[in-house]
Amino acid sequence: MKFCFVFGTRPEVIKVAPVYKFFLQKGEEAFVVATAQHREMMDMMMNVFGVEAKYDLNVMTHDQTLDSIVASIMQRLPLVLQREKPDILFVQGDTTTAMSCAICAFHSKIKVAHIEAGLRSHDLYDPFPEEMNRRVIDVVSTYLFAPTNNAKENLIKEGIEEDRIYTVGNTVVDALNMISNSFNLSQVRSQLVPFEKYILMTLHRRENIGERMVSILSAVARFARERNVHVVLPVHKNPSVRRIVFDTVGSDPHFHLVEPLDYVSFLALLEGCWFVVSDSGGVQEEAPSFGKFVVVARRTTERPELIESGFGILAGTEESSIHEAMVLASQKKLDPSGNPFGDGKTSERIWRIVRGVSQ
Ligand code: UD1
Ligand code: UDP
Repeated sequence: MKFCFVFGTRPEVIKVAPVYKFFLQKGEEAFVVATAQHREMMDMMMNVFGVEAKYDLNVMTHDQTLDSIVASIMQRLPLVLQREKPDILFVQGDTTTAMSCAICAFHSKIKVAHIEAGLRSHDLYDPFPEEMNRRVIDVVSTYLFAPTNNAKENLIKEGIEEDRIYTVGNTVVDALNMISNSFNLSQVRSQLVPFEKYILMTLHRRENIGERMVSILSAVARFARERNVHVVLPVHKNPSVRRIVFDTVGSDPHFHLVEPLDYVSFLALLEGCWFVVSDSGGVQEEAPSFGKFVVVARRTTERPELIESGFGILAGTEESSIHEAMVLASQKKLDPSGNPFGDGKTSERIWRIVRGVSQ
């Protein structure tokens, strides 16, 4: 059997790399197609995991639109698929890369395997366009690898046959275990930040770009001023995000704005932070492994497990609601505990399922 793994953005590399590497370890014939929807951030993560692409579709342009990404991928990927004829094509999550590649594979009658299937906010426009992307991918997939039982239930409610759905955990826990076991994170951290107490923040969601992002940043700035605490914010490469961040808090002495960090450095900062404010999906899934509370700066969630396990609050995007949630977060004392998103063995489960090897 021949396996094709595709990715294009930072979080996809993080979540696909452990599975791809596990397949290679098992001697499987597997190759990577990188769309490079994120040029620099994808390359950075591929270096961290030591993953190389056999094909690089090089689709990113600085003024890219959702349609231009789709168009470039749909023009370029079919040529690779015709040449390589893989049996199964793996996509991860809900990016435009994942959706476009899944459709191309479907058109070529190649089976699609969806890593992180079944996440739903139940609002088609939030997150935009990811909620649409993941629904489309799940429709065309033969293997639906749901991270949690909740995700599996979402799929069943949509009428997807149960024998296509496998609850396997989230590969992000495999990825963070790989890094935590190979690096001394506190040593890495000591070279990154000169202070003990800080809030770690990330922001990038399309639907937050604009007034919502200004409100979120203003709330964090108010809290930081009141408590005299540092905020470390690696600023996403998206120019629209960068403009808002630098305009709103660029000269605020409490904010430490840095370039996107490699995964080892980011996990080192996550391990040592007071708590997190973020609109990221992956960060929510990582925080429980380090016992960190997440103020989720969004209006909807497809990861209710975070809230249910007591590791986060869905804070909305208003200045007052974010500030209120930060006050709550500041009072939390949590220990690292069982991560509701996975146990670090997801890659192996996926390999066993597609190979028919008993668990
Ligand atoms: C994409 C995904 C989102 C995911 C996020 C992870 C879609 C629709 N969205 O959103 O689901 O959560 O990635 O971060 O697929 N840029 C660079 N260099 C980079 C990366 C981005 O310059 O390495 C700039 C480019 O100008 C690009 C812009 O950022 O046009 C936006 O990137 P894009 O992939 O279109 O959207 P994201 O908001 O990053
Ligand atoms: N991350 C990173 N460096 C950073 C910021 C985030 O390595 O400077 C990692 C983080 O640990 C998580 C992933 O990137 O695994 C999340 O990516 P992002 O927030 O861009 O996308 P999402 O998960 O929301 O799709």
